Amino acid sequence: MTEKEQALAELEKIRSEALAVLADVADEEGLEAWRVAHLGRNSPVMGVFSGMGKLDKELRPLMGKAANEVRQTLEEALAEKRELLETAALQNMLTTEKLDVTLPGRPVDRGRLHPLTKVLRRVTRIFGDMGFQVYRSPEVETDDYNFTYLNMPPYHPARDMWDTFYTKRDGVLLRTHTSPGQIRVMRERAPEPIRAILPGATMRYEQLSARSEIEFVQVEVLVIGKGVTFAELKGTLDDFARRLFGEDARTRLRPSHFPFTEPSAEMDVGCFVCGGEGCPVCKETGWLEILGCGMVHPVVLQYGGYDPEVYSGFAAGMGIDRSTLMRYRIDDIRHFRNNDIRFLRQF
Ligand code: PHE
Repeated sequence: MTEKEQALAELEKIRSEALAVLADVADEEGLEAWRVAHLGRNSPVMGVFSGMGKLDKELRPLMGKAANEVRQTLEEALAEKRELLETAALQNMLTTEKLDVTLPGRPVDRGRLHPLTKVLRRVTRIFGDMGFQVYRSPEVETDDYNFTYLNMPPYHPARDMWDTFYTKRDGVLLRTHTSPGQIRVMRERAPEPIRAILPGATMRYEQLSARSEIEFVQVEVLVIGKGVTFAELKGTLDDFARRLFGEDARTRLRPSHFPFTEPSAEMDVGCFVCGGEGCPVCKETGWLEILGCGMVHPVVLQYGGYDPEVYSGFAAGMGIDRSTLMRYRIDDIRHFRNNDIRFLRQF
């Protein structure tokens, strides 16, 4: 064999071997490995180019041309194979990943409002219809607003009625009722007349039971003006109770005591859970206290910036949790914050 014949045979071997290997490549990864091995810098064809210097001078152009042809053939074969693999992959996807557009959709789990939120919104709506404005006031309060301005100076024994959670900051606590909001609204509005409600979370440090929680929702009601009377208090609250619980709701007003109202009362509704026969929710009395109320104490009016000689007013603070127990005939207040989806789904 001449040198030329030998070199050409060598090239032909490179070509046929590379093509034979390519025929067996089955995926993208194999394809890349093949490209590096047969067209990369250290591949046999490239070796032919770099070994050109050792060849006979006359042979060089011929061999260069032949090697170029081999390289081109391999590049074309690679492109062809790549296309083939891509088509096969697509075909495979089309047959295996079938999409049945006639299948029914997966139902979206819709959220719903918490029963406390529902009742709170209803209460807000009812008072809104009566011409009340909605105010917000802080859940973290100062001792002054929660107690002192409400006619409970430091060390006053009445403070014992509201045991609370204290923060590490001196004189800063979690409010035990929405009543501090009375002072905040008054200070914002004095000497204008007021018809306002203040909904929000309140906290007390106490024993858990079917009717009491350490966190609960209250709505404070405040009316200030010239010549506001107890009759208006009673009429407003009775009307409210019937709008919330229905025409057949029974209510009663009992004399009570609060340092920030004088006179003071508590309103009960006939227990809807037991129908008045007695149960743990109503402590076997047939009645459930849902709010405290009274005529705003002169000291409180003064702290709020109103002259008690000229202005009078009434206030009430109602427990939304208890009202919700009544409205939906729920037998335990602790359900509200257990996050049990089976309970919450019912509303
Ligand atoms: N703040 C009182 C309580 O939480 C309720 C109340 C409000 C009483 C307004 C009278 C007037 O117990």
